[in-house]
Amino acid sequence: MRHLMSPLDFTVEELDKLFDLANDIEKNPSKYAHSCDGKTLATCFYEPSTRTRLSFEAAMINLGGSVLGFSSANASSAAKGESVSDTIRTISCYSDICAMRHPKEGAPMVAAAKSGIPVINAGDGGHQHPTQTLTDLLTIRSLKGRLNNFTIGLCGDLKFGRTVHSLINALIRYDNISFIFISPEELRIPDYITEKLKELNIPYEEVIRLEDVMPNLDLLYMTRVQRERFFNEEDYIRLKDFYILNKDKMALAKDDMLVLHPLPRVNEISVEVDDDPRAAYFRQVQYGVYVRMALILTLLEIEV
Ligand code: CP
Repeated sequence: MRHLMSPLDFTVEELDKLFDLANDIEKNPSKYAHSCDGKTLATCFYEPSTRTRLSFEAAMINLGGSVLGFSSANASSAAKGESVSDTIRTISCYSDICAMRHPKEGAPMVAAAKSGIPVINAGDGGHQHPTQTLTDLLTIRSLKGRLNNFTIGLCGDLKFGRTVHSLINALIRYDNISFIFISPEELRIPDYITEKLKELNIPYEEVIRLEDVMPNLDLLYMTRVQRERFFNEEDYIRLKDFYILNKDKMALAKDDMLVLHPLPRVNEISVEVDDDPRAAYFRQVQYGVYVRMALILTLLEIEV
């Protein structure tokens, strides 16, 4: 039995296979409409979510399966003190596969150790968000035709943004990727990540002003400031509007640069950018369904 805790759980070759499957699902959805008949997905979400939970549910429904679960810790027996280990042993009796989001780093890993069914990490604290990374990679590969030879700017909350940490981990396996980290001093990328980039001789720079680097970017990955991970509301208020991507800044970018964002957006991308053909974040949401369909089929070892 296989779980997904980190994007690195799949080799680059396995990821290629997964993305080929996702692209085939996109082109031929009816071929897959009954591939999970009789199967059930559990979504155990101890933290709020719109896209991840609902795209997992849409994915299983599109495959002909059923869904059950809870959308907050308060709506489950966690509110009465039940452990993640006991919850997953229980969920294993009701379903065939589980997607779990938890505010504590490593909680889905604890669940996987006790689980009778495949567990997918749907986001654990500020640590990893592997299915968002799969979504990001599929979006880039589908819209650009490759996953190598990019300068990617990651902008915003690089300290707490788990999507950023997961994506960097995944991209360093591809050739000729260079990173530009754009953040205020307080939200810099963690040292353990820059240490790893140095070790691997992967080029990166850290800057504060987005305008200065816009012309160099092939991809711009915007993120929101993660209010829920701040200890101090005053700091959040001071930093929340540090970056606002607008038409003036987009005018500095390459004609074929893509703007990605894991969403939800707060203020960091002005709605006036949404109609720019380079704004790919809502197409990214759609790719999230295809890649989760491919992931469910892969972890359940269902061949179509
Ligand atoms: N991208 C993402 O994880 O969105 P949700 O928090 O809405 O699931």
